Amino acid sequence: MYRALCTVARLAVAAAALAATLCCDSIIEAALNLQIKLNPHSRAYNDWVAPSVPLLFDVYLFNWTNSERFPEEIPNLEQLGPYRFRERRTHVNVTFHPTNGSVSYRTQRSWYFDETSNGTLQDNVTILNVIAASAIYRSRHWNFFKQKGLSMVLAMSGHGMTTSRLVRELLFDGFEDPLLDMAKSLPASATGGAPPVDKFGLFYGRNNSMDTEGLVEVTTGELGGIPGQILSWDYHKSLPWYEGECAKITGSGGEFMPHNLTEDSLLTIFMPDLCRTVHLEYEQSGQIGGLPYNKYAMTDISFDNSSRTPLNSCFCNGECGWGGVMNVSACRFGSPSFLSLPHFLHGDPELRDTVRGMQPDPDLHSFYFAVEPRLGVPLDVAGRFQFNVFIEPNPNIALYEKVPKMLFPIFWVEQRVKVSEPVISELRTVRAILDWGGTVCACAAILFASYVTIATCCAKKSQYSKPQEMIVSEKPKDEAEMKLNSM
Ligand SMILES: *[C@@H]1O[C@H](CO)[C@@H](O)[C@H](O)[C@H]1NC(C)=O
Ligand SMILES: *[C@@H]1O[C@H](CO)[C@@H](O)[C@H](O)[C@H]1NC(C)=O
Ligand SMILES: *[C@@H]1O[C@H](CO)[C@@H](O)[C@H](O)[C@H]1NC(C)=O
Ligand SMILES: *[C@@H]1O[C@H](CO)[C@@H](O)[C@H](O)[C@H]1NC(C)=O
Ligand SMILES: *[C@@H]1O[C@H](CO)[C@@H](O)[C@H](O)[C@H]1NC(C)=O
Ligand SMILES: *[C@@H]1O[C@H](CO)[C@@H](O)[C@H](O)[C@H]1NC(C)=O
Ligand SMILES: *[C@@H]1O[C@H](CO)[C@@H](O)[C@H](O)[C@H]1NC(C)=O
Ligand SMILES: *[C@@H]1O[C@H](CO)[C@@H](O)[C@H](O)[C@H]1NC(C)=O
Ligand SMILES: *[C@@H]1O[C@H](CO)[C@@H](O)[C@H](O)[C@H]1NC(C)=O
Repeated sequence: MYRALCTVARLAVAAAALAATLCCDSIIEAALNLQIKLNPHSRAYNDWVAPSVPLLFDVYLFNWTNSERFPEEIPNLEQLGPYRFRERRTHVNVTFHPTNGSVSYRTQRSWYFDETSNGTLQDNVTILNVIAASAIYRSRHWNFFKQKGLSMVLAMSGHGMTTSRLVRELLFDGFEDPLLDMAKSLPASATGGAPPVDKFGLFYGRNNSMDTEGLVEVTTGELGGIPGQILSWDYHKSLPWYEGECAKITGSGGEFMPHNLTEDSLLTIFMPDLCRTVHLEYEQSGQIGGLPYNKYAMTDISFDNSSRTPLNSCFCNGECGWGGVMNVSACRFGSPSFLSLPHFLHGDPELRDTVRGMQPDPDLHSFYFAVEPRLGVPLDVAGRFQFNVFIEPNPNIALYEKVPKMLFPIFWVEQRVKVSEPVISELRTVRAILDWGGTVCACAAILFASYVTIATCCAKKSQYSKPQEMIVSEKPKDEAEMKLNSM
């Protein structure tokens, strides 16, 4: 009878060990998710509001060194920089919407010039005259007389093919221009609805601004699912300027990635700069400080002109052009803005033939996320874009009578974020707990259960005060068996 009781107890030990393995895993998983969820009490929250990782914003400008011989000679572009800025980023206006499991916020970014730059803010750089190029592009559907009028205005206000300015003015400080004052009195239809500005600069008005990236609403993960997945952008649930698949606002906001990523996974990320969702493809695996990562990168498919992926055709807005560039005109108030990877990496070869100085190199110019696949934590991120201006000949505008149809590279930016060594070792611990935690728990459970079984059997014996000889005969055997079982 005791034997039966103890056999039952031993079966219970086995069952308990199994259960412990399973539920230990789910306990660890649950604890992990709790930390990763976005709520004001999670550990991730404070670091999410104001990331403590140092962020660098590197700007490379293309100095146009032979502009006086344009268009006879193809533009020669010399890369300058990096002009390096330390970036401080905070999420502001953070509002939780518990009923729909979401949080909305704006991102405020501030930049501080860093002395490790290769160059100074006083460097004098020559670029394409972006103000004139924008005005001419916006006039391309105007009638003859209005275009002639613009041509005269440009000549009278002293606008040439280029602008030579200090880096300080070109980037954040901006500079004044008579066309900007004129634009203030024009109807919105002529300026694409762009808000009137008093200065022009490539990043003018962005320092400390809360509006550049818009109001973003993402999931918190409180109602299940992955946290940080975008739900709406600037009150839009879909993009107004595209149709079908292209209009969808989906994917990660860039901060939280899905768990259990594989080589077949696509990393889907919404990028406010590009005004669209992009899919990054698996490229390779590797290790950083002993942690495995999967690297997902932009490829020739990402900005394809639909020659490879027909799904992309809805981004063309009718006119599919060069592969490897993204026409962001629609979300930049109709300016001739095209984004690509730096040096037209993965772009149409024709783009590199119309200018001199493009030397694409995947190591320097690719756009990727290296993510710890099990936990979905980004370990090394390189965000890189090149800003280009579209120009084309226009017989009615003297300045652009003979220009070729091309994309003119102006600058490219790089944001590189690598997690620090302490975070890596913390992640290694979490990984180890996830990988081995179940086994450790199971061992602990078996030991504990064995102890309980012994205690139970012994307790039973004394409690029921069985005949002495039975105890003597039973006990050694059971103990031996018990030892074997717990091995
Ligand atoms: C940019 O090019 C112009 C024209 O060749 C030159 O005068 C100027 O020094 C260059 N700027 C820098 C910072 O190298
Ligand atoms: C610094 O800029 C010059 C051109 O202005 C370039 O030749 C040099 O390679 C750059 N150095 C680094 C470290 O990027
Ligand atoms: C956002 O927060 C700032 C201060 O952090 C405040 O001035 C502004 O009014 C807020 N905007 C909205 C829409 O709540
Ligand atoms: C979430 O709730 C807020 C108000 O509580 C609402 O403004 C917002 O549109 C909701 N978002 C979604 C995606 O339903
Ligand atoms: C951005 O603004 C801050 C504070 O207003 C200022 O200290 C900093 O110099 C500005 N950065 C640039 C690049 O102008
Ligand atoms: C920059 O250089 C151009 C000539 O290359 C010159 O006309 C202009 O005045 C310079 N700008 C400044 C602020 O020195
Ligand atoms: C990831 O995979 C592990 C086991 O391989 C599983 O326990 C876990 O639930 C998965 N997590 C998600 C979010 O799918
Ligand atoms: C699309 O891109 C491919 C590859 O870059 C190119 O060969 C093709 O001509 C492009 N299509 C159009 C319509 O420009
Ligand atoms: C860029 O997109 C805009 C609007 O989406 C479109 O009107 C324009 O024709 C496109 N530009 C080129 C050069 O394809």
